[in-house]
Amino acid sequence: MKKVIVTGGAGFIGSHTCVELAAAGYEPIIVDDLRNSQERAVHGIARIIGRMPRWHLVDCTDEAAMERVFAQEGHVHGVMHFAAHKSVPGSVDDPVEYYRNNIRSMVVVVRTMQRHEVRRIVFSSSCTVYGEPAVLPVSEAQPDRNATSPYGFTKVACEQLLRDVSASPAGRELRSVLLRYFNPVGAHPSAHIGELPLGVPNNLVPFVTQAAAGLRPAVTVFGDDYGTPDGSCIRDYIHVVDLARAHVAALDWMEPRPAPLCEVFNIGTGVGHSVLEVLRTFTEATGVDVPFMVGPRRKGDVPVVYADTRKSSAVLGWTSGLTLRDALRDAWRWQCSLKEEVVQ
Ligand code: UD1
Repeated sequence: MKKVIVTGGAGFIGSHTCVELAAAGYEPIIVDDLRNSQERAVHGIARIIGRMPRWHLVDCTDEAAMERVFAQEGHVHGVMHFAAHKSVPGSVDDPVEYYRNNIRSMVVVVRTMQRHEVRRIVFSSSCTVYGEPAVLPVSEAQPDRNATSPYGFTKVACEQLLRDVSASPAGRELRSVLLRYFNPVGAHPSAHIGELPLGVPNNLVPFVTQAAAGLRPAVTVFGDDYGTPDGSCIRDYIHVVDLARAHVAALDWMEPRPAPLCEVFNIGTGVGHSVLEVLRTFTEATGVDVPFMVGPRRKGDVPVVYADTRKSSAVLGWTSGLTLRDALRDAWRWQCSLKEEVVQ
């Protein structure tokens, strides 16, 4: 089986991607320091794929430790690089830590790949690189250095690093795909893995499921005075299982293509939903009411963003198949499986 190193493989998107890699016949090798994830994700993956995945408790910014991982694993087909800090407000509070961690881990991963002649990488980027798009839906051709937070700029920088490496003599044989995710939500339908935010969730859907479970007070809708039909912000919510499959599609797609290759794709559904629609759809999908109130706008929020998915469907041959309703049902199933254990 072809080994694929998955940094951040115990995290939300990484864990779902390990499952889809295994389903496609690859062997996922998890590298995660569990700083923002838990070992239970590795056991959850094992329950779904029927075997314990190989995994290394390693911080990706530790070059010596990453060197040992690659040396120990022998021939590695490719890398999927998820490991990164991901809180927008966290990055505003401590930008130096975001630049240190997110950029250093990218540097270490690429350096280690070069030493071991590993020549395929899929990078976890974000629609945050577009900032507030001038045209909707937002396509890959639109300006992509308009991030509005230090977190967003670490994604811009890591994308650029891969482009620069591809254009360099050392990158002649490198194939890289940059996937710009819109808003990943949901959980595996088995409810063995899902999102495990530590502390109070920043993101909408985990807050909604925790509020519906009575673990949090009412959801605050951050503004209902935007220029959208119901006044709340609009996002493109993509089921995490569809997103995970996009990674496998990217790896398969790059295989027969000539190197160097560095291609970027939006990964979303192409459809926008407002915050109020998410709340309503959650209740329709689960039968559970979510207490909510309308509060002020959140600083830095973009009013509307959703993906132009034409390139990913035409070139990558990938499209999303699951709906927001599916995602909210699965996120709720996951929340119920956690009972009350994950709250601080
Ligand atoms: C942002 C980034 C995304 C990044 C993610 C990481 C943009 C466009 N998106 O997503 O790239 O990966 O952060 O955390 O920069 N909301 C509420 N109440 C809440 C929480 C959220 O109303 O309690 C609203 C927000 O105003 C927003 C929507 O729900 O309109 C989604 O918010 P969230 O889940 O935090 O994701 P983004 O901010 O869109």
